[in-house]
Amino acid sequence: MALKKVGILTGGGDCSGLNAVIRAVTRAAAIEHGAKVLGIEGGFEGLITAHTQELTVRNTRDILTLGGTILGTTNKGNPFEFREIKPDGSIGVHDYSDRAVDNFNKMGLDCLFVVGGEGTLEIGYRFFLKGVPVIGIPKTIDNDLDKTDYTFGYQTAVEVACDAMDRLQTTGRSHQRVMILEVMGRTAGWIAIDAGVAGGAHIILIPEIPFNIDRVVEKIKFRAEGGSPFSIIMVAEGAKEEGGDVITQASASTRLQGVPQLGGVGFYLADQIKKRIDLEVRCTVLGHIQRGGSPCAFDRVLGTRLGSHAVRAAAEGSFGTMVALKTPDMTLVPLKELAGKVRSVPVDSQLIQCAESIGISMGR
Ligand code: F6P
Repeated sequence: MALKKVGILTGGGDCSGLNAVIRAVTRAAAIEHGAKVLGIEGGFEGLITAHTQELTVRNTRDILTLGGTILGTTNKGNPFEFREIKPDGSIGVHDYSDRAVDNFNKMGLDCLFVVGGEGTLEIGYRFFLKGVPVIGIPKTIDNDLDKTDYTFGYQTAVEVACDAMDRLQTTGRSHQRVMILEVMGRTAGWIAIDAGVAGGAHIILIPEIPFNIDRVVEKIKFRAEGGSPFSIIMVAEGAKEEGGDVITQASASTRLQGVPQLGGVGFYLADQIKKRIDLEVRCTVLGHIQRGGSPCAFDRVLGTRLGSHAVRAAAEGSFGTMVALKTPDMTLVPLKELAGKVRSVPVDSQLIQCAESIGISMGR
């Protein structure tokens, strides 16, 4: 089908490569179809409030290398369950989805490209069920989306985390300290395991394998007794102790998002280690540095391929799908197959076997 006017929004936490996707969608729609492109601002909130900007080949020409998203994003603002703080401090929940569909129709769009992680794509699917022609485009630094080999933003985050490891290696070795690096990864430890292996970690703790603090300390002691009080630990924010819970932070966004903000396991670990062994321990939390900045070459290419393929899928009328990488090709996956699925690091995977075979402790 000929595309005349298409819309695109970015939802959920940002990551490097979003602008590469926006640029590719804009260029493919304009160059191959002569279509107009409308950027919807601030994720799905822009669909509720009808805040948009026109995207053209010209005004997207310099954004390939730019971090963040020129459209803005939010991990709040689900139109089906929009949460607002009421004057008395309680949370009110509203369904603005009909208003969003009305606005979509008024905009005269042939297709809505929804760029996001699991939560955003699920909202996209709910709009598809309400008749909106949606094509999903997968993103997340966590790399935990099912049905795609990789999500863009992930490799950039791994590079950033690996660079941090390299830096902690030199200062940690100089001072003979135990250095902890806490990275993102809510339910999946992909960043921790990849950047941990790449950065020469001695211990890697991921959400998929609850850690035993005695095993962690054993590894540090083993190294210290062998003459190296220096150890480096990579820990994902979602890692938890055996029998324990993930560590969360109280925050306004936690209340509005309805999803807890994680963080703090690195400092918890530092305290536990200090109680058991007389070594200097330091913790660094890498946080949103993993999400900011220019995408690496892999993410630029992946974002560009996903954006271009999404426009092709729209022209074919393949709505209700997500474009995905099935190396070496792009494929389409029905959005309904994604519902509620998170791709974790398999605990019996070759990747974990590889780490343990070279002496990395996984805390078990
Ligand atoms: O899902 C991506 C992610 O980066 C998680 O790893 C992290 O827990 C979360 O987003 C943090 O989101 P924010 O601080 O933006 O609410």
